[in-house]
Amino acid sequence: MRVLVTGATGQVGSEIVRLLEERAESRVRGRLEVVAAGREVMDLTSRDSVVSAICAAEPDVVFHPGAWTSVDACEAEPDRAFLVNALGTRHVAEGARLVSAHVVYFSTDYVFDGASPRPYNEWDATNPLSVYGRSKLAGESELDPGSTIVRTSWVVGTQGHNMAKTVLKAAREREGPLRVVEDQRGSPTEASDLAAKAVSLGLSRRPGLFHVTNQGDTTWYGFARAVLRAAGLDEARVEPIATSELDPPRAAPRPANSVLDNAALRLSGEQLLPHWESSVARLVRALQ
Ligand SMILES: NC(=O)c1ccc[n+]([C@@H]2O[C@H](COP(=O)([O-])OP(=O)(O)OC[C@H]3O[C@@H](n4cnc5c(N)ncnc54)[C@H](OP(=O)(O)O)[C@@H]3O)[C@@H](O)[C@H]2O)c1
Repeated sequence: MRVLVTGATGQVGSEIVRLLEERAESRVRGRLEVVAAGREVMDLTSRDSVVSAICAAEPDVVFHPGAWTSVDACEAEPDRAFLVNALGTRHVAEGARLVSAHVVYFSTDYVFDGASPRPYNEWDATNPLSVYGRSKLAGESELDPGSTIVRTSWVVGTQGHNMAKTVLKAAREREGPLRVVEDQRGSPTEASDLAAKAVSLGLSRRPGLFHVTNQGDTTWYGFARAVLRAAGLDEARVEPIATSELDPPRAAPRPANSVLDNAALRLSGEQLLPHWESSVARLVRALQ
């Protein structure tokens, strides 16, 4: 089996590549081959680049976490957001169709508006508040029926930028209180936990939409406290603020509640991901 991964340098892509390469090594040589397609070999904005890279690799499965994920920057450049996240996904779907590859697309909790008082399941109506959320939802609509869609939230891992690293850096470099928003609720999701479930769904060519997050939920304030606690630092330094108090204010509105009920996994009897707190504690140890 040959597997191609887009966005292979990102938080999620790099974990998928790592996991698949570990599996490839533990198998009989040549039975699982991994093509880590970074931007230099596959530019999502170019139909030619994407289609020719996929046709050259002839993968059985394409994992597609590649995306423009700068949520606030997307507000100022909606064309670029839709070019990478929506049209780029059309290019991936076209290339995959030509070689009969199964596609696993990664989407976001930001497809919801956050007005619901309860967690969102896979059948709840979407209503993205931001350009990023709209462009990722548009990407979902580009996929052939039978593809896998993995919606996740609040990803943190060892690679790339994320809130766990931001909190640790701020705690070490700054004096005084760390002010973190308390009016956004979601489920932090550790990248290697997410990658393991996505790989399992993808290699079995499981069709349909799945919410895949670590279990439990919190606010960014609760998350920041947990990160400092796990690092053995003083969590009392974290002070809660409202999103409206952020200075400077963020360009993109965020949903107040974007907790994802992993209903499709749960109702299928699939094992759910661990609680976010244990996975984030493991991540913090790895980051230290
Ligand atoms: N991070 C989160 O909290 C979160 C939450 C919900 C859903 N998701 C979704 O999960 C997926 C993975 O997120 P992530 O955190 O791993 O994102 P990430 O760390 O920002 O990685 C994105 C990857 O896409 C690549 N990329 C961007 N533009 C490209 C282009 N034009 N051509 C080719 N590659 C391009 C990036 O390459 P460069 O390094 O060269 O820019 C990078 O490798 C995304 O689809 C995202 O929408 C993420």
